[in-house]
Order: sequence, then structure tokens, then C-alpha cells
Amino acid sequence: MTLPDGPKSPRFVQLIQWIGDPMTYLDKCAKQYGDIFTAQIGRPVVIINHPQAVQEMLNSNALHAPGKANHILKPIVGEQSMVMFSGERHKRSRQLLMPPFHGERMRNYGKLICDIAADVASKWSVDRPFVARSAMQEVTMRVILQAVFGMDDGPRLQQLRPVLASFVDMTGSPLQSSMLFVKWLQQDWGSWSPWGRMKQQGRKIDDLIYAEIEERRLQPDANRTDILSLMMAARDENGQPMTNEELRDELMTLLFAGHESTATAIAWAFYWIHHLPSVRQKLLQELDSLGENPDPMEISRLPYLSAICQETLRIYPVAMQMFAREVLRPVELMGHQLEPGTVIFASIYLTHRREDLYPEPLQFKPERFLERQFSPYEYLPFGGGSRRCIGLALAQLEMKLVLATILRDFDLVLAEKKPVQAKRRGVTLGPAGGVRMALLGRRRSQQKRESVASGV
Ligand code: HEM
Repeated sequence: MTLPDGPKSPRFVQLIQWIGDPMTYLDKCAKQYGDIFTAQIGRPVVIINHPQAVQEMLNSNALHAPGKANHILKPIVGEQSMVMFSGERHKRSRQLLMPPFHGERMRNYGKLICDIAADVASKWSVDRPFVARSAMQEVTMRVILQAVFGMDDGPRLQQLRPVLASFVDMTGSPLQSSMLFVKWLQQDWGSWSPWGRMKQQGRKIDDLIYAEIEERRLQPDANRTDILSLMMAARDENGQPMTNEELRDELMTLLFAGHESTATAIAWAFYWIHHLPSVRQKLLQELDSLGENPDPMEISRLPYLSAICQETLRIYPVAMQMFAREVLRPVELMGHQLEPGTVIFASIYLTHRREDLYPEPLQFKPERFLERQFSPYEYLPFGGGSRRCIGLALAQLEMKLVLATILRDFDLVLAEKKPVQAKRRGVTLGPAGGVRMALLGRRRSQQKRESVASGV
């Protein structure tokens, strides 16, 4: 089988580059080989970045999105997660999990998101710098657990939060991420080994999730519309409910896919807004034009805030590529004949860095999204087709509401002057160091709003 041309360095060298410094590796490949090339990253993978190739890949029925290709996530999300399924089984899983993520449900989550963001920010103090990503992880995790899973802010949730955070942090650096990519690093020698520690944390999470499921079984409530209740009420074609393992794996999938990615995206947005004073100033003008207690949906429609969020996900897309697609029948892509079994990655990162679509691609310019509309094959931070992110409406709403809630009330600065670099964190691309920030104080416009409200 002939594959598109690609780098000739030994496989293990390419794999190390892919894990350790994926952006440099991809930039070099695209510079030398263009729109489509073959990378040897554990196995040969055809990587595409031209919008036409992405469109053909997503719309052709000669390709599919196989669950088995996502096996590196199995240790985290389990075997019964929707990302592990293909075809009809995958479709069924999505149908079951989609309702709480529909646009109209977002209205119900708006106030909760603003309240959680305000609560997390209220704990910041002037003399203690904080890491934006960690603070945002707390926000996004509480949003998923409370809004989507319907868990009360009680002792179980308080136990679950730190365990989940440290579980996700275990793939926090490129070296730690290797555990997911290289099978022989997956050795369980108890707390002596990174893998063993990850398994231990995994078991603690399982215990807490199973306890929540058990409690819901004992006290069923037909009026609940959260995702755990919907899944527990669902029956398959034989009238069977989902098992505890199935419920656990789907919950872990949503937690894993939803909390880290959104927290990273918000941390990046904080970085860009405070790194570029003109962006911050323009945004504050827009936010100050809102009245007292604006409706969350009104915030979500603000054009400049929306453009900042779009540009944030363009310049460093948190998910560097879509899930793998695989050729089922011989197919032609950008003039290359691909045989069954060929694995394809659409590189979101490379598509978003194309000069022909985004002039001066390394510059952060929200205006591009006000000046022109991009097609779903040119701008694709949430992927597309049968595996398109199910949490995209929630993620976008969260980004906007958290930024607006915090920036309207607090004066923040970056704690370090030097530019923040992007680095691999598990399967995502995050800011190295998580963006250290400091609180200067409350904003004057906020104080003015408060004194008007209290009649002073
Ligand atoms: C900024 C935040 C987020 C980004 C950048 C993002 C990005 C992505 C991308 C690129 C994919 C793969 C799509 C494809 O292969 O076509 C994906 C899939 C997925 N995302 Fe997100 N996502 C985000 C937030 C969320 C949230 C908040 C949730 C849910 C709570 C979520 C749940 C999922 C799930 C379950 C899948 C797998 C879908 C499937 O296998 O069918 N994501 N996401």
C-alpha cells in the first residue's frame, strides 16, 4: 500500500517528537510535505490539514470513526465509553447522552455557571497569585458535576473534586503523557509506579461514582432531568437498564472530555486577554455596556467576547486533532489513493494555522471572526461529523460566562511577563505552567454598580 510521503526519521524518533513537542513536529511536517502527509507515530497515520480534505473525510461513506482507534483513552474512560464504540452502538450512546447538551438546556445552566465562577473568584486575594487553569478546573468540574450530573454540592462532591483533579494531572506533562501512548509504561507496581498511582486514584473515583449511583437507585426521582437520571431510566432494545460499569464509563467520559478541555480553553483566554492590553480594553468596554445583572444569554451573544473565545480555540486548539478516522473502502483524498485500514487524523492545529485561511496565523486577532465567516472545515475546534463534540454548546457558554463574570468584577494581571508557551497535557494542548495570575483588586465599575444598588 502506498501512503502519502512523510518524514523519514525512525519511528521511535517521530513518536518521541509527537509526544514531547507535537507543534514543532507538525509544523515541520506541514512545511515540508504540505496538505497531507504520513507520520509514523506508533503506527503510520495520514495527517490532513486542508479544508477540502477534511470535508471529503467527513462526508465520505468510505470512511468511519472506529472506537478501537481511541484505545489510549481506555485506562481513563473505560471500555463502555461512547468513544470506544463504533457504528450503531456509538450512535445509540450519543443519542442517550445528547439531551442535556442541547442548546435550549443551556438556558438552565447559565445562572449556575455565573454563580460558580463568582464563588471561585471570591476566594482570590491580592497577595496570593493563582494558577488560572487550576481555578478554572474547579469551575468546570463543579459545572459538570452539578449541572450535567445533577450532584448536590455535598460531601461526596467535595471528596470527588480533588481526586479527579489529581487523576487528570497525572498526565500533566509530556513525560507523564507517555504513559497513555506507550503500553509498556503501563505497569502497576502500586504507589511506586506512576501507572499504579493512577490506578489507585481511578479506584477512589470509581468508589465515589458507584456510591452516587447506588444512592440514586435507592431514591429514584422521575422529575430529574440530569444525565445520570436519564441514563439510569434508559432501557435497551431488550428492556435492560445500563449496568453500573456502563454508567461509570459514560460519566467518566463526560468528565474527562468536558472539564479539562474547557478549563484549559478558559485559562488560554485569560492569558490572551491580559497579554494584549488592547484586547482587554475592548472587551471591558463591551462588558461594561451591559446593565446590572445581565441575562446570561445576553452575555453569550456579545460579539467581541464571542470572537475572543473563537480566536482562543483557533490559535491553540485544546484538542490538537480529531479522533481517528479509518478507510473502509478504497478512497481518493487530495489526489492520493488510500486503501482500507488506513488511519487518518484531521489536524485541527495545522488547519487553524494555515496562512491562506488565517493571515498572520501566530497573531491573536479576534477581529478575524468579526470580519469573515469560516466554514466548518476551516474552523473546527470541536471536530465534526459523527464524533463532533457533544459538549460544544456547554463549553462555549462556559467560556463566555466565566470570562464575563470574572472580568466585570475583578482587575487581574499576568503574574509573569514572559510569553506562555503551549505544551502537551495528555491528549490536549495547554499553557505551560497553567497561566499564573494575580488579583489587583475589584474593578471600579463594579464598586460603582454596588454603590448604586445599595443607594450610597
Ligand atoms: C473547549 C472545550 C472543548 C473542546 C475544544 C472539545 C473538543 C472536542 C473534539 C475535537 C472532539 C472530537 C471530535 C471529532 O473527532 O470529530 C470532541 C469529542 C467529544 N467531546 Fe468535546 N470538547 C470540549 C468540551 C467538551 C465538553 C464540555 C463535553 C461534555 C461535558 C465534551 C464531550 C465530548 C465527548 C463525549 C466527545 C466524544 C464524542 C464521540 O465519541 O462521539 N467536550 N471534543
